[in-house]
Amino acid sequence: MSTSTVSATDRARGRVAGKVALITGAARGQGRSHALRLAAEGADILAVDICAPVDHVGYATATEDDLATTARLVEAVGARVVTHTVDVRDAHALTTAVADGAAVLGGLDIAVANAGVCSIQRWDEVTPELWDTVIGINLTGVWNTCTAAIPHLLVSGGGSMILISSTAGLKGQPFLTPYVASKHGLVGIMRSLANELASKHIRVNSLHPTGVDTPMLNGMVGLTERIEASPDVSSLFLNSLPVELVQAADVSNAVLFLASDEAKYVTGLTMTVDAGASAR
Ligand SMILES: NC(=O)c1ccc[n+]([C@@H]2O[C@H](COP(=O)([O-])OP(=O)(O)OC[C@H]3O[C@@H](n4cnc5c(N)ncnc54)[C@H](O)[C@@H]3O)[C@@H](O)[C@H]2O)c1
Repeated sequence: MSTSTVSATDRARGRVAGKVALITGAARGQGRSHALRLAAEGADILAVDICAPVDHVGYATATEDDLATTARLVEAVGARVVTHTVDVRDAHALTTAVADGAAVLGGLDIAVANAGVCSIQRWDEVTPELWDTVIGINLTGVWNTCTAAIPHLLVSGGGSMILISSTAGLKGQPFLTPYVASKHGLVGIMRSLANELASKHIRVNSLHPTGVDTPMLNGMVGLTERIEASPDVSSLFLNSLPVELVQAADVSNAVLFLASDEAKYVTGLTMTVDAGASAR
């Protein structure tokens, strides 16, 4: 279903009709794409983003205007939307925001832990501050998202949590060690919670895209030069299918599947949208 031509009937028959979805990092990039896709398929959206610069990361993160644009686009397909400006590192603020959104939208069924940052450094250029920033957002932030969402999923009688990792969560990609550590770490959260919550009908999966055409990727200045200067490791960044980058919409297709009842028996899965990169 294209998001540009969605009718109320389409949404009522959609693959996540009547559900409520939390998406972190929803102001732009993949998070916005997931919000629009789930909204077009019938979900109401709780959209969270930091909407402020992140120290120690060498590119700009999203703004309040970006989050407002996501909200406007979600409403344009006929969905309800609640936005909150929250740093996922702030467990208390995130828990409060999720409780507010669930109260306004009538519960919670889906949580997409998508907020993340990336930074390119050789191992001896990684400062303690950068390490804490990347682990704090990409790993602790995912944990905070899970713990904020789970009480509401329990009230709903079950649900789906989708933790956004990366090819870097399955392979040891160089010049990205804090990122690789964080994206591997969230697989541990996924596997543990998938076991712990299965009896409560809560499914937990991780999603592993290869390079996606978003502002993050465009902000990863220096990676190409590092790879070109290190031919011994360059193959670790190659896809198998003849495509350099995938689009956010390609990842949203997988998010929608994992969020929907079509995936009702899918849990504990590390699902790739990586053009074969992790199979190399
Ligand atoms: N772009 C890629 O090549 C790629 C590949 C694989 C996985 N990923 C992952 O996909 C996810 C989405 O990334 P993207 O490509 O859309 O990048 P992006 O930078 O366009 O979007 C990330 C969003 O997260 C928000 N954010 C950052 N820190 C936050 C915080 N502390 N609290 C709340 N929100 C915060 C940003 O403001 C931004 O809106 C990330 O987890 C990223 O690691 C990206």
